[in-house]
Amino acid sequence: MLVTLQEIIALADEKGFCVPAFNVYNMETVMGVAAAAEEADAPVILQVYPRLIREESGYYVSPVIVAAARAARVPICFHLDHGAAELEVHRALRWGATGIMLDGSALPFDENVALTKRAIAAAGAVGVAVEGEIGHVGTVNDEKMGELTDPQEAAEFVRRTQVCCLAVLIGNAHGHYRKPPKLDIDRVGAIREATGGLPLVLHGGSGIPDEQVRAAIAAGVRKMNVGTDVCCAFADGTAAALADPNRSVAVDLFMRQPIEAVKRLALEKIRLTGAAGMAR
Ligand code: 13P
Repeated sequence: MLVTLQEIIALADEKGFCVPAFNVYNMETVMGVAAAAEEADAPVILQVYPRLIREESGYYVSPVIVAAARAARVPICFHLDHGAAELEVHRALRWGATGIMLDGSALPFDENVALTKRAIAAAGAVGVAVEGEIGHVGTVNDEKMGELTDPQEAAEFVRRTQVCCLAVLIGNAHGHYRKPPKLDIDRVGAIREATGGLPLVLHGGSGIPDEQVRAAIAAGVRKMNVGTDVCCAFADGTAAALADPNRSVAVDLFMRQPIEAVKRLALEKIRLTGAAGMAR
């Protein structure tokens, strides 16, 4: 069933698990994640980068996400990831998104607040809540990491915006880490406390050691994003299909292997985040 960001986050917070949020790019990645969610009886988020919403691919993949969510027995949210401008927010909502992230984390604080509040007004008009970000989560290729999220600044941001959940920088980054990260788990607890128990979001979920993911969840992370691992699973599945001498050239049959590879990856993350069996 298609559910909103606030519904799926509330379910996770009530039961004390974390919803895995998978970045999807095409019908096959959607199919792989949806099949895993059904098999594991898990709530999941299917999210798209704003690039897809700005460009043509989102026009095609959005209805696929909505169809997969509506057909599923488990709760699925369709989320805009890292929305940075009103055009992306409005277009994602028109294309059926039931969750919005507004990422103004690279902007001065007051501009981040103002832009996030505008997204909240637009999304709120159609009953959709917003994820914000304080402390800019960069990529593994950045020269140096930004300042980790300050709990008091996070609390002030939440008070002024009323976001539904908050992405934080605690030693995480987007992409495959060159060496294993060392997450500041105490900071997760401190931010959670300072914000009055707000559900927190961990970006850069590909390659964080399992025990650190579990510790972050125990401290208050309720949504974890996984993007790079989805791409790698899909690419590896495609390479394996190409190497198979008995492969079919019919594209739907050829795609079975990449879909299965994405499904296996999604099952792994669903189990890691404690979402398995939490659909009801
Ligand atoms: P990874 O690509 O590192 O898994 O990060 C995904 C993400 O945080 C998307 O917002």
